[in-house]
Amino acid sequence: MKRSSFILLHTCLTVLFFSCFLCSAQRKTIDQKVDSVLRLMTLDEKIGQMNQYNGDWDATGPITKDGDKQNQVKKGMLGSMLNVTGVDHTRTLQELAMQSRLKIPLLFGQDIIHGYRTIFPIPLAEAASWDLDAIEQSSRIAAIEAAAAGIHWTFAPMVDIARDPRWGRVMEGAGEDTYLGSMIARARVKGFQGKGLGNTDAIMACAKHFAAYGAAVGGRDYNSVDMSLRQLHEIYLPPFKSAADAGAATFMNSFNDLNGIPATGNRYLQRDILKGQWKFKGFVVSDWGSVGEMIQHGYAKNNYEAAKLAANAGSDMDMESRSYIQNLAKLVKEGKVSTNVIDDAVRRILKKKFEMGLFDDPFRFCNEEREKAQWNNEINLKIEREIARKSIVLLKNDLVQGSRLLPLQLSRIKGQQSSEPAKIAFIGPLVKSIKDHLGFWSYDWPDDTARVSSLWDAFEHRLQSQAKMFYAKGCNIADTSRAGFAEAVDAASQSNIIIMYVGEARDMTGEAKSKSNLHLPGVQEELIKAVMATGKPVILLIGAGRPLIFNWAADNVSAILYTWWLGTRGAEAIADVLFGDYDPSGKLPISFPREEGQIPIYYNHYNTGRPATSDSDRFYRSSYLDLSIYPKYEFGYGLSYTTFQYSDLKLSKKRIKANEKIDVSLQLSNTGSYAGEEVVQLYLQDRFGSVVRPVKELKDFQKINLKPGESKIIHFTIDKEKLSFFNDQLRWVAEPGEFVLMIGSSSKDIRLKDEFELVSRE
Ligand code: BGC
Repeated sequence: MKRSSFILLHTCLTVLFFSCFLCSAQRKTIDQKVDSVLRLMTLDEKIGQMNQYNGDWDATGPITKDGDKQNQVKKGMLGSMLNVTGVDHTRTLQELAMQSRLKIPLLFGQDIIHGYRTIFPIPLAEAASWDLDAIEQSSRIAAIEAAAAGIHWTFAPMVDIARDPRWGRVMEGAGEDTYLGSMIARARVKGFQGKGLGNTDAIMACAKHFAAYGAAVGGRDYNSVDMSLRQLHEIYLPPFKSAADAGAATFMNSFNDLNGIPATGNRYLQRDILKGQWKFKGFVVSDWGSVGEMIQHGYAKNNYEAAKLAANAGSDMDMESRSYIQNLAKLVKEGKVSTNVIDDAVRRILKKKFEMGLFDDPFRFCNEEREKAQWNNEINLKIEREIARKSIVLLKNDLVQGSRLLPLQLSRIKGQQSSEPAKIAFIGPLVKSIKDHLGFWSYDWPDDTARVSSLWDAFEHRLQSQAKMFYAKGCNIADTSRAGFAEAVDAASQSNIIIMYVGEARDMTGEAKSKSNLHLPGVQEELIKAVMATGKPVILLIGAGRPLIFNWAADNVSAILYTWWLGTRGAEAIADVLFGDYDPSGKLPISFPREEGQIPIYYNHYNTGRPATSDSDRFYRSSYLDLSIYPKYEFGYGLSYTTFQYSDLKLSKKRIKANEKIDVSLQLSNTGSYAGEEVVQLYLQDRFGSVVRPVKELKDFQKINLKPGESKIIHFTIDKEKLSFFNDQLRWVAEPGEFVLMIGSSSKDIRLKDEFELVSRE
């Protein structure tokens, strides 16, 4: 070895040694500190740390009106509070905690699901961007704003896989796919926790709801979940594992029972998998009241039993059920819960408080100046608008008399020769909506109506006098009255083009918002028909928190954008996309069913013994006599104003051993006339396995930006990890055999295909 290489190696090893040493010294210090606090604590004080209450305010000031809660804080009988926001409020409560014997600081948690002051697209919409950097950035900004308001901890990300759009909470997650969901889980945890706990702009993430909450039977919220362990491990757990690997500080368990055992009392989930196999070092908080709810489940006889079952199963903190605070001391005295269980839970909680730096300075998140600086942060709002644009999905943009309606061009709308301004009618119950843009799980700020624009405002601002704008609401979102139709038809008749904005209200999708009917609510589809009957060109915007059903419109309207709920600058983002400032690039993160009767419908199903190749194959795959086998819009679907061509697929090898890799390359070209982004999706099918394998599974993707005429060579790597699955022994294995490789623009629109073989296990 050359002397210079030796010196380099030596230096690297020395640096590595000292950084490891320092790390472990630091870790030890925190562990030692935790132990020294723990040694001072009485049993009651320990149990207090495992207790979390909701904040509720006295009419006269930012202090909880419940005198009992105040006393408990002063006595050190409370570890954390939720829904306490703002430097003022958190400081007041932290001051009370500082009156307790051991002065253990409180943790303030809050549902920062898609932004705090700057509201970002709902998570399902953001997932449609398939842009991991953007998603990490929105979580980063949410954390910065929330931390500046005294918050230490968000109850996000929700990483539940959801294959059922009837489930109201589908809006909170990343959709139906395990791989996409896992990537997004990691991005969100990284975003929330930033450079690491201990920085005053980092808040603790909480992966929820552990586990399988998204598979509630019938999509009915809080319902039971019954599934094979293989499905649990293969489909539902990986996003949680990804969040844990990304360093999520906490987990929240869930309301549902899993195969008969409530998740809150589920030892297998919390002790064996999370804290055992995954070596998770953070703590688990229950969902709201879920410890006590084990009584209604019929699993615990009373609160005493509920506390015993939950604590022994590894639920470290009780959110709001008071089962722990009222029963754990007795349970310990009676030998039903060991002090080891208590100490382990408290250690985990204290450790996070130390890591957050709260023992050094309990008020380090209480800084008025920082709070003020983040209040109306224009940079954050600008980023929000960019992410909102990326989340919009173009479902349809057909040719109408030789040209497409989108992007909008005023000269074309009014006719090239006309000297009159273009006439645009805005019709639909969402055109003047403001709050709906914010979606469910967002805070209502008193100045929202001034801060958030309606679509009408955004267009008015943009068009000034370049176009004449007409407005008709047409109908309410959910009413059955058609009284406004005539006015809508009149507005349409006076215009050259119509922009219709229909959908749900923001509170129709969310927690406890499961629905059996996913059709456009009320008479909105009829309104579309009435307006379409004028023969004028219509652009349809659909705002919603979940996939809706709108078959007539889908088949008859020539331009449709799915705009979800896009956040504070949502209306501006929609206008940007309509005018072509940004070429839509969103892809659906969940299949859109044709009818509710098709649910659950998802792309990565098994083949069955009778795979259908078309709707006429009636004796084949689980088809219905009265429905297509295909969803209305498939997973990964989304159009662009430009066109992309896929070519030159090359695999570096066609046969690999398990320790080898394949380089997959292809050329992507922008063959249209707009700059745009394409999400290139890589799917694999394992032809034969010791258990049956899905028809295809997303294993990788890249979002590529190309100018018109530009081409790029894109590379993917196939390795053992991508070929592995859980076998019937729940072992993660790659089995030798043939694989089909598919590169597509959606899960259905496969553009390139090849095959390769794995020839060894190791
Ligand atoms: C929800 C959780 C949420 C908690 C606190 C519960 O009802 O299921 O997701 O974090 O409330 O608001």
